[in-house]
Amino acid sequence: MISTKMAKALNEQLNKEFYSAYLYLGMSAWSELKGLKGFANWFYVQHQEETIHAMKFYNYILDQGADVNLLSIDKPEANFKSTLEIFKKTLEHEQFITKSIYGLVDLALEEKDHATNAFLQWFVNEQVEEESSVSEIIDKLKLVDDKGNGIFMIDKELSGRTFTPNTGTI
Ligand SMILES: [Fe+2]
Ligand SMILES: [Fe+2]
Repeated sequence: MISTKMAKALNEQLNKEFYSAYLYLGMSAWSELKGLKGFANWFYVQHQEETIHAMKFYNYILDQGADVNLLSIDKPEANFKSTLEIFKKTLEHEQFITKSIYGLVDLALEEKDHATNAFLQWFVNEQVEEESSVSEIIDKLKLVDDKGNGIFMIDKELSGRTFTPNTGTI
């Protein structure tokens, strides 16, 4: 069992994960329209992963006998100037999500809620991976000065990302 306060915080995180899924779906569409199939693929896979994250929270809340409270999902930003800009915004967003997860861990520790703390550790690790893979792409985009042939090569590389339905229970 979890506290009402914890259930509320987990429901808010569930909403943030769906917002992430929505944000990345928009970025995928933006890339598609620019003819950047590889970028579109990368963001589409990212969208799928975020949906899985949301469902992990959904299932955990139900497993703990608490109410799932689906909130409205904000409209994500959809106009971007460049591929570098979308990845910078992705990193910013992931850093915001990391902080949010840390806030949940803080609350779990404060409440001596060991089950929720254990559940959240998967996300703590996942965020390290998210931030590092996005930073790597930003570095590459900077190397090619965010244009021309370089973008074409990075697009090709990003086309190789595949969705692996996730580790752990959902
Ligand atoms: Fe996520
Ligand atoms: Fe994420």
